[in-house]
Amino acid sequence: MAINIGDKIPDSSLRQKTSDGINPVTTNELFSGKKVVLFAVPGAFTPGCSVKHLPGYVKHSESIKDKGVDVIVCMAVNDPHVMEAWGRDQNVGDKVMMLADGSAEFAKELGLDQDLNKAGMGVRSKRFAMIVDDSTVTELLVDEPGQINLSTAENILEKL
Ligand code: BEZ
Repeated sequence: MAINIGDKIPDSSLRQKTSDGINPVTTNELFSGKKVVLFAVPGAFTPGCSVKHLPGYVKHSESIKDKGVDVIVCMAVNDPHVMEAWGRDQNVGDKVMMLADGSAEFAKELGLDQDLNKAGMGVRSKRFAMIVDDSTVTELLVDEPGQINLSTAENILEKL
C-alpha cells in the first residue's frame, strides 16, 4: 500500500554524489526536524523531467523556500553519478538536492514504484511530489503515468 498523508516517512537511505564522493543520506537526517519538498521522477534526463519537472522546481525554489521549506529534494531511480550530472546540466546549484534511489528501495518502501520494464527501464519511481513536515507527509500528489500535472512546482507552491 502506498504512503499517505499523515504517515511517517519510512527508514531508508538514498545516495548523493558531491565533491567529496558518494555519500549515503538517510531519511532520518533528511526529514527529521525539517520541512521538505520531495519530488520524484521516472528518470533523469528524460524529456518531460528535463524540460518541465526539474526546471520548474529550480525556477520556483526561492518562492518555495520563502514558504518555510528547508530543502527541496529531487529523487529518481538512477545512480548518483547520473543524478549529479543531471543537476549540473540543469544548473540546480544548491537550489535542489539531487538524490539517487539506485535500487528503487525507497520508492518501493513508499509504495510509489512503477514497472517500466516494457519501456526498457526496469522498476522506477512514479512521478510524485510530497510535502514532509518533520518526517510526516502533509501533502501527496501522484501523477498518472506519462503526465506531469499534479506534482509540479507550481502546484506544490499552491499547497504550501
Ligand atoms: C512518465 O512520465 O511516466 C515516463 C517518463 C519517462 C519514461 C517513462 C515514463
